[in-house]
Amino acid sequence: NGRRLLSASILSADFGRLAEEVRAVEAAGTDWIHVDVMDGHFVPNITIGPDVVRAVRRATGLPLDVHLMIAEPDRYLQDFADAGADWLGVHVEACVHLHRTVQRIRELGKKASVSLNPATPLCWVEPILEDVDMVLLMTVNPGFGGQKFIRSVLDKVRTLRRWIDERDLPVLLQVDGGVNTDTVDELVEAGVDVFVAGSAVFRGDDYKATVGALKSRFRS
Ligand code: DX5
Ligand code: ZN
Repeated sequence: NGRRLLSASILSADFGRLAEEVRAVEAAGTDWIHVDVMDGHFVPNITIGPDVVRAVRRATGLPLDVHLMIAEPDRYLQDFADAGADWLGVHVEACVHLHRTVQRIRELGKKASVSLNPATPLCWVEPILEDVDMVLLMTVNPGFGGQKFIRSVLDKVRTLRRWIDERDLPVLLQVDGGVNTDTVDELVEAGVDVFVAGSAVFRGDDYKATVGALKSRFRS
């Protein structure tokens, strides 16, 4: 198990000063930038599209981790790839031909991530583990920042950690939702590699302090 990483979700940033916010969390020591794309269809909220991803791309050299919470993601993979995403993450619940979608992401030269909602069983990704670069286990129901962590997902985290380790796969295990200084320790213990945090990072004005507080717990 390599180095643990923090991916700051800009969903909780001030969109009116987005480039500045991205540069501020970069300066504060975040490892990746997490971009939440929502279509008002797969999830009950609408956020941003490829043009905003392009603007974020211009603001930072950090890896861009684009979390597509959209129906029929295949229709937009090319657009988000061209906009400068490094990681493209799709929800298994939104993909009829998941293997084809993951293949397409890799053909575009991007890292492929697959996401599971809290109530989606882990067996949905089991057949495709050798073909992905990351699995994202949602620890809230996708759609909004600042929601309460769903603890029952910890069992899935532990099981997935075991599958990855037993098969010695180069797959990162990511969680997203309700990650903060109250929940990070049990997630570290359960074997998470990449922690997405939105409200916990952008809360207050001192991003160095909030990012530092989370990352200091990664070493335990
Ligand atoms: C939720 C998004 C998350 C969100 C997390 O649907 O996918 O990335 O920004 O927000 P927090 O960290 O506040 O739970
Ligand atoms: Zn997200």
